[in-house]
Amino acid sequence: MFKVFICGGSGYTGSELLRILALHDEIEITGVTSEKSAGMAVNELFPAFFIYSHLKFENLDIDKIKKKADIYFLALPHGKSQKIAASLLEAGKKVIDLSADFRIKDASCYEKWYKTPHLFPSLLNDAVYGLPEIYREKIKNASLIANPGCYPTSVILPLYPFIKKRIIEIDSIVVDSKSGTSGAGRKAEVTLNYCEVNEDFRAYNVAKHRHTPEIEQELSFAFGGFITIDFTTHLLPVNRGILSTIYAKLKKKISTKEALEILKETYENEPFVKVMDEGQVPSLKYVKGTNYCYIGAVVNERTDRLILISTIDNLVKGASGQAIQNMNIICGIEETKALKSLALTP
Ligand SMILES: NC(=O)c1ccc[n+]([C@@H]2O[C@H](COP(=O)([O-])OP(=O)(O)OC[C@H]3O[C@@H](n4cnc5c(N)ncnc54)[C@H](OP(=O)(O)O)[C@@H]3O)[C@@H](O)[C@H]2O)c1
Repeated sequence: MFKVFICGGSGYTGSELLRILALHDEIEITGVTSEKSAGMAVNELFPAFFIYSHLKFENLDIDKIKKKADIYFLALPHGKSQKIAASLLEAGKKVIDLSADFRIKDASCYEKWYKTPHLFPSLLNDAVYGLPEIYREKIKNASLIANPGCYPTSVILPLYPFIKKRIIEIDSIVVDSKSGTSGAGRKAEVTLNYCEVNEDFRAYNVAKHRHTPEIEQELSFAFGGFITIDFTTHLLPVNRGILSTIYAKLKKKISTKEALEILKETYENEPFVKVMDEGQVPSLKYVKGTNYCYIGAVVNERTDRLILISTIDNLVKGASGQAIQNMNIICGIEETKALKSLALTP
C-alpha cells in the first residue's frame, strides 16, 4: 500500500482526486488539507463522500504533513506549491504538483506570465512534465511531476505527431479552446456566478492566457525549434469539459484518412487517447468524468488546412486523472488502475 496525501483537498481538483482514489486498491489516503475547512470531516464539506467520514481536513503545516505519506498531490493555486514541494522533496518524498509552478522550464518565462519570480528555479530542471504519452520513461523515475495544464493537454496531444513529422507549417497554428467553469476552481468570483455564466458564451484572456507558454514550450521541444501559436480560450456554460479546435496549414497535401492514420499510429498503444474514425468528431459527452482524450481530424482540401478537434474532462485527463496516471507510473502500479471506468452520464 502506498501512502498518499492531498494538499488542497477542498478544491475541485483535490475533490476529484478523492473521487478517483476511492476506486484505487493499492493506496491509502493518509491526510488532506484545507485552510478554510480545517477540522471538518471530508463528508461534511462533500456529503457524497461518506466513505471519507474518517478523514478530517487539516491545515497545511509542512512539518506535520511531511511525515504522513510517500506521495503528495499538490492541488493548490499556482505560487503556493513551490515551498511545499521543495520541503517535501528535501524530505525524500514524491510530489505531483497540479499547479503551473513547475511546468515552465525557463524561470524568466514563468515570471513574465505569472507575474511573480520563481522561488526554486533549480527545481525546474528536475521536474518532469507529466504527460505520459510523451514522457512516460522519464516519469517512471521522477520525484517531482509538473502535471500538465488542462488546455495544454487538449492541445499538445492532437498536434504532437504532426509537429514531430513536420507536416504542418509551424507558424500557422491557431487554437480555439472552450472550457467549462470548473476550470477556474471552486473559489468565489463574480464572473463565474451562475447568472453570469448561464446562457452566455464568451472569450477571455485573448492572446494572453497563461497556458500559452506551456503549450509553446512543449510544441517547441517536439519540433526542435521555437513555435508560437494563437490561442483563444472561451468559457462554456457547463460544469466540466474542454473542447479544442486547432487549425494549421499543411506543408504537403495529405487526406483526412492519412491524418487520422498518423494519429492512430502515434497513439495505438495509449490507453487514454482515442482517435475517431473518418467523418466523426468528439463532443464533451464522450469524455465527461473520464481520463480519455478523444481526437478527431479533418483536412479541408479547399484551404489545405488540417483541423483537429479534441475533447477532455478538464478535471480528469486535464488534472486529477492524469495526476493519478502519473502516480501509477511512478509507483510501478498498472497505469490504468482506478482510471478505466469513470464515465459520468448525463
Ligand atoms: N480546475 C481545473 O480544471 C484545473 C485543471 C488543471 C490544473 N488545475 C490547477 O490545479 C490547482 C488547483 O485547482 P482547483 O481548480 O482545484 O482550485 P480550487 O478549487 O480553487 O482549490 C484550491 C485548493 O487550494 C487550497 N488553498 C488555497 N489557497 C491556499 C493557501 N494559501 N494555502 C494552502 N491551501 C490553499 C484551497 O483550500 P481552502 O479550502 O482553504 O480554500 C483548495 O483546497 C491550480 O493550480 C489550478 O491551476 C486546475
